[in-house]
Amino acid sequence: METETKNYSDTTSVWRRKPMYLYEQDMKKSELKRVLGKWSLTAIGIGAIIGGGIFVLTGTAAHYHAGPALALSFVIAGIGCIFAALCYAEFAAMLPVEGSAYAYAYGTIGELFAWAIGWGLILEYAMGAMTVAVSWSGYFNKLVHLFGFDIPFWLRNDPVSAAKYAADNGLAAPGFSINLPAFIIVWLVTSVLVRGIKEAAGANNVIVLLKVAAVLFVIVVGVFAVVPANWQPFIPAPEMIQGETGAPHSAYGWGGIVSGASAIFFAYIGFDAVSTQAGEAINPRKDIPFAIVTSLLVCTVLYIAVSLVLTGMINYKDIVGDALKAPVAAAFEKAGKPWAVFIITAAATAGLVSVMLVMMLGQTRIFLGMAKDGLLPKFFSNIHPTLKTPYKSTILVGLVVSIVAAFTPISILGDMTSFGTLFAFAMVCLAVLLLRRSDPGRERPFRAPALFVIAPLGIIINFYLIVNLSEIAQLAALGWLLVGLVVYFIYGRRHSNLNDL
Ligand code: ALA
Repeated sequence: METETKNYSDTTSVWRRKPMYLYEQDMKKSELKRVLGKWSLTAIGIGAIIGGGIFVLTGTAAHYHAGPALALSFVIAGIGCIFAALCYAEFAAMLPVEGSAYAYAYGTIGELFAWAIGWGLILEYAMGAMTVAVSWSGYFNKLVHLFGFDIPFWLRNDPVSAAKYAADNGLAAPGFSINLPAFIIVWLVTSVLVRGIKEAAGANNVIVLLKVAAVLFVIVVGVFAVVPANWQPFIPAPEMIQGETGAPHSAYGWGGIVSGASAIFFAYIGFDAVSTQAGEAINPRKDIPFAIVTSLLVCTVLYIAVSLVLTGMINYKDIVGDALKAPVAAAFEKAGKPWAVFIITAAATAGLVSVMLVMMLGQTRIFLGMAKDGLLPKFFSNIHPTLKTPYKSTILVGLVVSIVAAFTPISILGDMTSFGTLFAFAMVCLAVLLLRRSDPGRERPFRAPALFVIAPLGIIINFYLIVNLSEIAQLAALGWLLVGLVVYFIYGRRHSNLNDL
């Protein structure tokens, strides 16, 4: 330990690493309540993964990219995620601390990189929660509309979207507008999170059961409405078509399957949130790897089945207009089962609540890890004496997420969530590889199989998916990382606990 301390404290470089013995100390000192067993952790993974993505993105991906071979796009994106998931699992078993990818990078790559990942994860978790809150509002409005009630447009849209809605519909621009459903749902979720991890996990378990039942419903009922001719040819020949933006683009064939994988990647986001719960798991070394891999595998199987059923029910060429926004519902309407739309809309509405719950939970635990290391103010690591939750940071995250969701047209920035996630995935693959080389003798309760193959492939696939995101999202995310650099040099570097070693 002596030598380790010395080696690390000798340097003030941005590459300084957190010594492993400090992780051990953090684990012993954790004030969080350890209440999560392996099934609750698995439900946290599924809770974050199954959201709007599967009900929405499948249409665009089938029509503009892969055709019936959309199922293969899900297989490819699923493989990229499984590689990252196995790397996460190896780390989570070794270092069961709450900071997730940030913490793993801090012990292996260095402080600046860890900071960049932690900062990037804000895109995944906080920005993810904002975009999901706005989509939730959309589903909620649809649901109340199905019951014959409409919320006034200025109470369900941010000011920019409301002004556009008014102009498009020949209405007077409203003086004030707010996305009230998004605002309210964020505060409901925040109040559950403040009350305690047991309460949050309980609510999540119920929602997960409901949404898995809904997805199974789509598969089981949908399979009887499949018209096999819609699957012919399964991989349509490559063709130049008019893309989503109107510009010509090459679709279908193997290229289309791969670009389809980028298009549906968002649907897989979330399994890594399990790793942020290490501080609250009863047996993190065994149960976190189990939950990460199991939740991802369950969702991959469900997603492949849904995509097969969808492209069998409705021809990918016919997914146009409104069907592009709600392809699963459109397929059921086409099959003469309009009542299914109720079930799908209700399931998505409930399902998105648990995505938000887990995203906001994950965000506060990452902040907690960063604050414990001194890179963020102590405010973020303040734990409530009886509730045992980081209540101040939870309320702050709720405040920011609710205001942004209520007043900005955030939904267009969904790709930034994918950027933050893919960046973290690639870095975790790299970090686990580096640690295998630099510290081969360390105890590894879970070892990712064939790491020297899957980690490099994980890095390549995840970077490939980043390159395929929209340019504006890439630029905005890089801008976000630059802001992070400034904050690091102004605050994090000066306050890092490693300065005191
Ligand atoms: N995977 C989550 C969703 O599809 C983020 O909504």
